[in-house]
Amino acid sequence: LESGALSAIDGAKTMDDLEKIRLQYLGKKGELTQILKGLGKLSKEERPVVGSFANEVREKVQGKLEEKIVNLKESVYEAQMEDEYLDVTLDAGKLRVGHRHPLLKTKEELEDLFVEMGFTVVDGPEIESVANNFDALNSPKNHPSRDKSDTFYIDDKTLLRTHTSPMQIRAMKEYGAPLRIVSSGRVFRFDDVDDTHSPMFHQFEGLVVDKGVSLANLIDTLNVFVKEMFGDDMQIRYRPHNFPFTEPSTEVDVTCLVCHGEGCPACNHTGWSMELLGAGVVHPNVLRNCGIDPDVYSGFAFGMGIDRIAMVKYGITDIRLMFENDDRFLSQF
Ligand code: PHE
Repeated sequence: LESGALSAIDGAKTMDDLEKIRLQYLGKKGELTQILKGLGKLSKEERPVVGSFANEVREKVQGKLEEKIVNLKESVYEAQMEDEYLDVTLDAGKLRVGHRHPLLKTKEELEDLFVEMGFTVVDGPEIESVANNFDALNSPKNHPSRDKSDTFYIDDKTLLRTHTSPMQIRAMKEYGAPLRIVSSGRVFRFDDVDDTHSPMFHQFEGLVVDKGVSLANLIDTLNVFVKEMFGDDMQIRYRPHNFPFTEPSTEVDVTCLVCHGEGCPACNHTGWSMELLGAGVVHPNVLRNCGIDPDVYSGFAFGMGIDRIAMVKYGITDIRLMFENDDRFLSQF
């Protein structure tokens, strides 16, 4: 009995096992308890011999049990420590810091620059009315940009704005003249994706309306902007263009930043960056459509692709990189 009890205790793996063993031997109906209870039935000579022997065994078993309980508790604790082991001296590796997206950086730079020149930043919706996006901007009903193959229409009267110019209308209607605002955001056109085109891109729009504002003010403002944004060496080229909402209108190119005007694949070997910017003197009809008297006030407006500005500024040759969020690209900024 003794050796059975002791080896059972040795083999116990859990507190539950131990408790079963305790009950088996030392419980009220336990084997040893039964022997001790049965002492009375023995003869006078046998009683002290068996009694003291049984007590000895009980003490051994009891002692062994207690020892085992301590052991078990210890090994449970050890296992737990092993499990939750944390080496505070281990090298945690470099903390990875996020990067600002080149588009966001460019947008903020543009905003800072124009805010310094006295412009106010305003914000507007990407889902726009046909009235604001085309009609109020003096766009003829048959203008190709209205075509369903160029523009994402939501219904007859609503579309995804194709440029940020409707913000001119919103601003003039809300604040009247005089006015100096910039506004930026996403615009949408039904373009196939290639290295310079994406059906979603970003524009930055500016509008000044005041008494006596002229084309000279526009050119001066844009010259300052280009030098501030890209540096003093940057050449600027104004090409005549046509927009329904400005007259006269111009498109602006700057020196290719990749080759500095030498000619390279990034600028199609022209030495000039892709057209960065459209601009012009606000058409009197547009002022009129917004309740501003063109005999008193005049204005200039410009719109540029933020994506293209960022591409020129950072020498990025593929617009798709801007929207793929590849960490190898983003972490360079
Ligand atoms: N909205 C024109 C475009 O998207 C740019 C522009 C803005 C031109 C303001 C003139 C004045 O191409």
